Amino acid sequence: MELIVVSDYDELSKTAASLMAKEIKEKERPVLGLATGSTPLGTYKELVRLHQEEGLDFSKVVTFNLDEYIGFSPLDRNSYNFYMWENLFFEVNIKRQNVYIPKGDAPNSEEFCKWYEEEIKRVGGINLQLLGIGRDGHIGFNEPGSSFSDRTHVKKLADVTIRDNARFFEKIEDIPHYAMTMGIGTILEAKKIILIANGEHKARICAEFIERPVTKQVPASSMQLHSDVTVILDNAAASRLRKK
Ligand code: GLP
Repeated sequence: MELIVVSDYDELSKTAASLMAKEIKEKERPVLGLATGSTPLGTYKELVRLHQEEGLDFSKVVTFNLDEYIGFSPLDRNSYNFYMWENLFFEVNIKRQNVYIPKGDAPNSEEFCKWYEEEIKRVGGINLQLLGIGRDGHIGFNEPGSSFSDRTHVKKLADVTIRDNARFFEKIEDIPHYAMTMGIGTILEAKKIILIANGEHKARICAEFIERPVTKQVPASSMQLHSDVTVILDNAAASRLRKK
């Protein structure tokens, strides 16, 4: 695991975006795994800037998103689908048919999950997976206790995750309790992984997944089993690490 500690969120976003841009330029058909949440917003903003000001070309890029809320249509403002189009896809020259996002309103979610896994295989696997991390150590929506061999599936969200997500919803009854997510097994098959985290509130979990033994109770600790992971933290998120 390579650890990069940067001074602030702006530098974190630029560092992550430049690693992604490098992958996009180098590969014939770059396949990116993408994450949502507040952490990657700056990374996407920088990728948009690189496209608009420096001509970074997304025409051959294929993307697979990690997760989506169950019961949400792609047009719902709180869906991850909406988030991705708003914050990245509408702003770059990606082809609609190259965008894959789990379908929260799929009539048969089990069938959909199988199809999603097959599509990832069909394009030759994910070259670079971008990840954030939840305060309980979840990646995608793989909550503590998830098996490291899980494939794309439907998952019940942990209470802490539901509470953390509440800020995005106006009414309590709108907060989702289930999500469709790539499994940890799916994520670990990506050739490269970048995990980003910023802020004091992520410091405890970052020290745990980086420096403590691998455990199912901290899903992100599975990163220790992968041979090409870059973790980018700002000073605040790195503040509880014993070794920097
Ligand atoms: C959600 C997403 C995760 C994300 C996490 C952290 O639960 N499913 O992929 O990493 O939130 O979110 P934030 O970046 O807002 O802290």
